[in-house]
Amino acid sequence: MDFQFTEEQIMFRDMVRDFARKEITPIAAEIDQQARFPHEIIEKMKELGLLGMTAPEEFGGAAVDELSHILAIEELGRVCSSTAITVAVHHSVVQEPIAHFGTHEQKSKYLRALATGASLGAFALTEPDAGSDAAGIRTVAVRDGDDYIINGTKNFITNGGVAGIILVAAYTDKSKGHKGISFFIVERDTPGFKVGKKEDKMGVRGSDTSQLIFEDCRITPDNRLGQEGEGFKIMMQTLDGSRIGVAAQAVGLARGALDAAVHYSQERMQFNKPLAQFQAIQFMLADMATEIDAAALLAYRAAVLKDQGRKISKESAMAKLYASEMVQRVTYKAIQIHGAYGYIKEYDVERFYRDARATTIYEGTSEIQRLVVARNILRD
Ligand code: CAA
Repeated sequence: MDFQFTEEQIMFRDMVRDFARKEITPIAAEIDQQARFPHEIIEKMKELGLLGMTAPEEFGGAAVDELSHILAIEELGRVCSSTAITVAVHHSVVQEPIAHFGTHEQKSKYLRALATGASLGAFALTEPDAGSDAAGIRTVAVRDGDDYIINGTKNFITNGGVAGIILVAAYTDKSKGHKGISFFIVERDTPGFKVGKKEDKMGVRGSDTSQLIFEDCRITPDNRLGQEGEGFKIMMQTLDGSRIGVAAQAVGLARGALDAAVHYSQERMQFNKPLAQFQAIQFMLADMATEIDAAALLAYRAAVLKDQGRKISKESAMAKLYASEMVQRVTYKAIQIHGAYGYIKEYDVERFYRDARATTIYEGTSEIQRLVVARNILRD
């Protein structure tokens, strides 16, 4: 779509588009069917420097702006939602908070490892009994001398089973409510840390979603991210930014579904003419394209505001809400246009429909996005 992108943004987007089409499209259906994490794609992205898009150059990143980053996520999402969410999480909820709240030493060690692709990252907030209620976590980090001992279980953690570096939210002082939450950087080989069950999901099956278990996991104070008690603020600010990435993933996925529907409707003959010549189909395509652009514009606005350093709670929640709900309608219509062919695994739209479902859930449900938007407009 036309938008006021800079030449650099267009070049970056086109580079990722070429990569996605050449390297990811051929395996996207297979990793979905086998629920296989695409390590080979991650290796290739590492070679291209696509695992440290937004990190400062000083720490091995490419330091592109947020708009370029979400254009990249959109292009990945257009062919493979699993790759898009893997990469989005690795950047938005892991590298970003380390870049903003980390010490120089933490950036030199962890941000560099993430940005260069030496390690993948995961963000461990959700628990068996705490999803939308982020302050309802039960994981604790209890002081033992200078160290902290972490105990708790995290559920549904994207990249959990493949990450080398995990950000973990835990209570350091339960009596202070949400002001008693802190964040920690945990390395995969830390004693007391282990990966539990890998989830068998409806969609985004090529992305790893695992349970993480912390049993007397000893962490030095050097690995606390931010100050004690700053954890809730870190997670809220982080999610404000990362929700734009989910919006971009949904926009990309919807574009993929539209591409497939346009192509199919021009090939498929019924009543002696291509489907695309029927007004019923044209209206569906028109609605799909219009809603996709509306969602994309919301996401681009949030990205531009983020680049300007503005507060984006409302704008990112709006983008995530609208884009993730929009992609349900668009993938539904894409299947409708394909008819029975859309209902079988041979056609990409079947996968797109299942992948779309996750976007209204992770990084805050649609209900949470509405709550964030409403609180902001009522307060302002
Ligand atoms: N930025 C900075 N501070 C913020 C903030 C923001 N966006 N939002 C809230 N805060 C501050 C408030 O100002 C308040 O501070 P004070 O106490 O100093 O006044 C404090 O945080 C508490 O705010 P609330 O009273 O609004 O908190 P709440 O308990 O009502 O919860 C919520 C707010 C928006 C519902 C929050 O719990 C939330 O976002 N829940 C959803 C969690 C979520 O998105 N989980 C997704 C998991 S991560 C994931 O999916 C990644 C993946 O792997 C794919």
